[in-house]
Amino acid sequence: MCGIIGYIGSRQAGPILLEGLKKLEYRGYDSSGIAVIDDGVISVIKSVGMIKALDEKSKGGSVVSGTVGIGHTRWATHGAPSDENSHPHLSSDKRFAIVHNGIIENFESLRTELKSLGYKFTGETDSEVIAKLIQHHYCGDIISTLRTVITRLEGSYAVGIISADKPDALYAIRKDNPLVVGLGDGENFIASDYTAALEHTKNFVLLGDKEIAEITATETKFYDVDGKQIKKKPYTVEWNIEEAQKGGYAHFMLKEIFEQPRALTRTVRPRIAGDEIKLDGIEFDGDYLSSLERIDIIGCGSAYHAGIVGKSFIEKHCRIPVNNILASEYIYSDPITGPKTLTVIISQSGETADTLSALKIAASRGSRTLAVVNVVQSAIARAADDVLYTHAGPEIAVATTKGYTTQIAALYLIGLKIALKKGSITVKRYKELLSGLVTLPQTVEDMLSEAEVKKVRKYAEKFHNQKCVFFIGRGTDYAASLEGALKLKEISYIHAEAYAAGELKHGTISLIEDHTLTLALVTQEKLYHKMESNIKAVKSRGGTVIALASRANSKIKSCTDMLLTIPDCDDDISPVLTAVQLQLFAYYIALKRGCEIDTPRNLAKSVTVE
Ligand code: BG6
Repeated sequence: MCGIIGYIGSRQAGPILLEGLKKLEYRGYDSSGIAVIDDGVISVIKSVGMIKALDEKSKGGSVVSGTVGIGHTRWATHGAPSDENSHPHLSSDKRFAIVHNGIIENFESLRTELKSLGYKFTGETDSEVIAKLIQHHYCGDIISTLRTVITRLEGSYAVGIISADKPDALYAIRKDNPLVVGLGDGENFIASDYTAALEHTKNFVLLGDKEIAEITATETKFYDVDGKQIKKKPYTVEWNIEEAQKGGYAHFMLKEIFEQPRALTRTVRPRIAGDEIKLDGIEFDGDYLSSLERIDIIGCGSAYHAGIVGKSFIEKHCRIPVNNILASEYIYSDPITGPKTLTVIISQSGETADTLSALKIAASRGSRTLAVVNVVQSAIARAADDVLYTHAGPEIAVATTKGYTTQIAALYLIGLKIALKKGSITVKRYKELLSGLVTLPQTVEDMLSEAEVKKVRKYAEKFHNQKCVFFIGRGTDYAASLEGALKLKEISYIHAEAYAAGELKHGTISLIEDHTLTLALVTQEKLYHKMESNIKAVKSRGGTVIALASRANSKIKSCTDMLLTIPDCDDDISPVLTAVQLQLFAYYIALKRGCEIDTPRNLAKSVTVE
């Protein structure tokens, strides 16, 4: 996601900002920029692409002189990576510059209002409204201006601000997006995470939600939204730079597992207004839906598995046949498709070559293409007729976690929107599922509690030397088990296989012997008894079984060796919760085995060749 650095002191700001941005590269970005107050005028330098380009353009930050400045790496959410959309953004009178992390959810209404007042916008971003809003409300007193701006912004934001009218100060505001103030010796910093300032100081203050920081080279003041000055207690961060980039987690994968509540919130919340689902302008009109005969969901790896989970949900609630097809198979299958088929393309990176090729073939045969993608303006996002971004933020670990669960959440949104429009779901059931989606991030948060994670870790470590692990389930649990098996294979190099539980007796059960480990997913209440008999079949052959059950099904413990649970949730959206448990299971096995978790052997984060 985006990165922020700000500096005020006696040294030249440019080079310090550049170095700080380089420390934030790990967060993933597609453009960057700096702004420095240079003799009462704000100079801005921006560049699309890697920091190297900005470094060259700004000659290491030396083309601007001044000791107060802000810098930004942008992970595009609204608007393509471009100079106009890169930060810092200027107010129209060029007296303010801002950098922003987060999503301003009411930016369209603010933009309309400001445009009606004559403000001109240079880019398409949500962030730019902040710069214009500050100018609009500026009354000579920046603190009171920022207090007003805070009351007008909805969504999440961490904002760094500099003003040509106040060249001896740096400002910051935030809500639901981290921002820290670094306390140096005769100089101070703001940063989206410690990494950017850690080489200069280990002393920080955390800016609280809807608080304002006014920072000079020698002093920091903090105000609440009512303008009351507040005292802040500094703390010391004993991290080295590398650790800081992982936010204190041992691996990016673990960090991204724990980021899932926030990522799911970003996928779901901006698209739900009351009982209505808004898919960023994507509509399915009645005529189109009545002509629709099939939905093809295409992807690779975990994206393909997300599609299988989506199939189960969409077929159940939309009553439209859904095909899951591996992109690499689709390309050479001379697919039967056309205007009566909706092709949903799933890809975290939006650059997977097989998946892009499949999209182009579907489109060339007249099928409408809808991409579910994480990386804004990626090749697949640009090639599709419609794109629904997951907004999971950049995913650094090769084995996807939040990328996968947010894809599922996006498919649930699409399925519910179609089902309601088609009338294939009752309003009551629609509202139940919508409420389950809204509370899903919190349910995941609850599940990531200390106790549950400790239990998963205990079982994972107990079985870290298994030669082979089976994952079985029925219905949506079978779909979820596919990803569980892949996660384990990808990062621990243990052979694992997902099986439809009812299929076990038709073959694989011959492989079950003493102590063979099977993870049995038992979250579907109506399939409880079927799963019970499948589990007993495995046990009777000497196999060891860990059940992963909903709390309602926890009685399954009586016939298994161990039990992991997920919080009770709607059966139809349980795959997100089981995914998180199985991610942790794979992670702790790989950790115990000493595997290279974030960059597993032979794997790439995105395979951009066929
Ligand atoms: C693989 C990744 O290379 O590609 C998987 O290791 C991923 O994690 C698959 O699921 C598809 O990638 P994408 O970016 O198209 O979702």
